[in-house]
Amino acid sequence: MARLIVVSNRVPLPDKDGSPPPGGMAIALNAALKRQDGLWIGWSGEVKPEEKEDEPPRLSVREAGGITYALTDLAQKDLDEYYNGFANRVLWPIFHCRVDLAEYARHEMSGYYRVNRLFADLLMPLLQEDDVIWVHDYHLIPLAEELRKRGCRNRIGFFLHIPWPPADILFTVPIYDTLLRGLSSYDLVGFHTDYDLSNFAECLRREGCGDLLEGGYCRAYGRVFRCGVFPISIDTAEFETLAEQSASDKALRMTYRRIEGYDVAIGVDRLDYSKGIDQRVEAFRRFLHANAHRVGKTLLLQITPKSRTEVPEYMAMQKDIAELTGRVNGELGTIDWMPVHYINQSLERRELAGLYRMARVGLVTPLRDGMNLVAKEYVAAQHPQDPGVLILSRFAGAARELDGAILVNPYDPEAVANAIERALVMPLDARVERWNAMMTRLREHDVYRWCDEFLSGLRQA
Ligand code: F6P
Repeated sequence: MARLIVVSNRVPLPDKDGSPPPGGMAIALNAALKRQDGLWIGWSGEVKPEEKEDEPPRLSVREAGGITYALTDLAQKDLDEYYNGFANRVLWPIFHCRVDLAEYARHEMSGYYRVNRLFADLLMPLLQEDDVIWVHDYHLIPLAEELRKRGCRNRIGFFLHIPWPPADILFTVPIYDTLLRGLSSYDLVGFHTDYDLSNFAECLRREGCGDLLEGGYCRAYGRVFRCGVFPISIDTAEFETLAEQSASDKALRMTYRRIEGYDVAIGVDRLDYSKGIDQRVEAFRRFLHANAHRVGKTLLLQITPKSRTEVPEYMAMQKDIAELTGRVNGELGTIDWMPVHYINQSLERRELAGLYRMARVGLVTPLRDGMNLVAKEYVAAQHPQDPGVLILSRFAGAARELDGAILVNPYDPEAVANAIERALVMPLDARVERWNAMMTRLREHDVYRWCDEFLSGLRQA
């Protein structure tokens, strides 16, 4: 079998004992890499020391659990321009339809391309003739084009983990055409949903440089390549087991005792403006105002680890959400009850699984999201005989699969407030029926299937 090379900005490294890092995608990719004698290449997560900035870039290589990891440090300038700059101040907001938050700077666009060239330079000497390359996410759109310029003829696939925006929104990026052309150098380009794929096709058509063909192919910039929809998922069985175990874990139960006895609505999101956290807190406030009998009995547990802390828009929202939760707690809280429990830390997956299971409502209300795996994890963690209810934004990719959720418009706080009350009064048989429908889907379409389908699509490309 051909060797598999995975390229991504961040590389989830295994523990010291060699066990794969937590997280469904990392586990599935690790399994595929192990089967295919694989190599995972990306940023080490470290900044190159200033005194070494002029030295040629190097890879540090290590083996663990049958996989080779090849990592490079990045200079502060590279990180500022490529990661904190173009990737997270232009591509991220634009692809999430936040044109108002995009900050264009020519030098950052050059930095983005410079780092992609660096990845191509580092990868080229490692390649063997039959290697299959799988590139992940918006940080690395130009990588295939850079590899082709260096003579690479291997199969190269690209998967976009975030949404693809409508044409008029993409076209606000000054170099949108080079991004489109970059994608045409891949052999397979994968998206989460039909909507993303049709937006991509619309961009090609409007630009007059390509179109979708029959049978999942696309012609653009004189090249024919495959395009497809591959909705990412979770390790459903693993999450079910974690949640079951957490129910009988005494130490965990002790940790939860302060919120036991309350009707808990849970939100779990990186601190990111695309997640709609402030709109959710406001919706919860309105829910309490509209349902006086819930005051003192219901709480919102919002777990929000900090993210991209060097990007100004993220710094600003950290402050805004902290102030908002403080205001709501000040307005409605009492000495023995706080409506919003806001936690700026990440929790272990085992703990999360237990919290999902005890929460009667899963509140997943992003303003826009490629997929949203929290929605899937919440469902997989529920007790089959007494499941909670998922409230899901219609603008998350997951809404196209999880039709047993209550779908909401996250921009409409009254609608979200009503949905919370509807979830809390939903009879058991309706909850079980909705949950069964979603679990059937999640058991059939787990992250292993996502990985296998993408790789077999790439082999056929
Ligand atoms: O959703 C896109 C994504 O890049 C994920 O792959 C990743 O887990 C998340 O955003 C966090 O991103 P970052 O690497 O910027 O912390």
